[in-house]
Amino acid sequence: MSVGAHQAVMLEQAVAGLNVGAGGTYVDCTFGRGGHSRRVLELLGRGGRLIALDRDPDAIKAGAAISDTRFTLLYGRFGGLHALLARAGVGKADGILLDLGVSSPQLDDAARGFSFRFDAPLDMRMDTSRGMTAAQWLSTADESEIREVIKNHGEERFAKQIAAAIVAARSRGDLGGTRQLAALVAHAVPAREPRQDPATRTFQALRIHLNQELEELSLVLPQCVDLLNPGGRLVVISFHSLEDRIVKRFMRDAAAGARLPERLPVRSRELPQPLMRLIGKARRPDANEIARNPRSRSATLRVAERK
Ligand SMILES: C[S@@+](CC[C@H](N)C(=O)[O-])C[C@H]1O[C@@H](n2cnc3c(N)ncnc32)[C@H](O)[C@@H]1O
Repeated sequence: MSVGAHQAVMLEQAVAGLNVGAGGTYVDCTFGRGGHSRRVLELLGRGGRLIALDRDPDAIKAGAAISDTRFTLLYGRFGGLHALLARAGVGKADGILLDLGVSSPQLDDAARGFSFRFDAPLDMRMDTSRGMTAAQWLSTADESEIREVIKNHGEERFAKQIAAAIVAARSRGDLGGTRQLAALVAHAVPAREPRQDPATRTFQALRIHLNQELEELSLVLPQCVDLLNPGGRLVVISFHSLEDRIVKRFMRDAAAGARLPERLPVRSRELPQPLMRLIGKARRPDANEIARNPRSRSATLRVAERK
């Protein structure tokens, strides 16, 4: 695959989950390089509409290649979905897709600083036009803050040792770029996990923190419930347990409705009704897809329908 391309993960299952109707309005919250968006456009009729968004200016530039009157591409964060859609004149949708995390072009562009496969400045912002880079954050954050981020967002057992090593390197003026950080983490971590670079968890943690990925996810999910028409589908592909936990709990609670103590003098039809219904169980990519596209290996897809 060439640099700049992205192989859409669980493409057919995700688009089937959206249950695209020819004349419906759909929202792809994570355009990336438009793998899912293009497939939705193939299924839409002339009266259908697809609104896609991304916070990465490079994704927006790449999307300019799609010339289709049914398609609108918006630059922005999905945490502000309601307002973004309102500005585009969209009040309701029949399906919303979230394919979370970073795209292959983001990982494969050395200058973005997401990957320690290349040596690059520590940037890691999805939106390169605003916010703090990883280098800026690491040069100013308290040791305890660095430790908590690496522990909580990287589920890293050795966060304490890594944070201490980062602060020691910083005080020597020796923090450097991606490779140097990866080497420093490897040195600080006493145990190795099979098939995983010791720096993977720390890089994941920094990326999640800097881009406020979990906050964005928690903000968008309730907005999706408000925006979906009855029968409209919410499809989410997540890539690690922190994300999937948020999605799973949200969908489960939305499908459960109000839970009140037993024996309250209230008729069940008077209780707030469930807002969503779960569609099937969590799904994972099959072995063929994982062999073809190893980046799909940690994907989990969940679907829920607005009642
Ligand atoms: C895994 S990629 C999506 C790939 C896409 N489905 C495709 O097939 O090409 C995730 C994309 O979502 C974007 N993204 C992540 N968090 C975002 C947010 N909070 N708001 C808007 N875009 C976001 C990233 O910049 C990235 O381009």
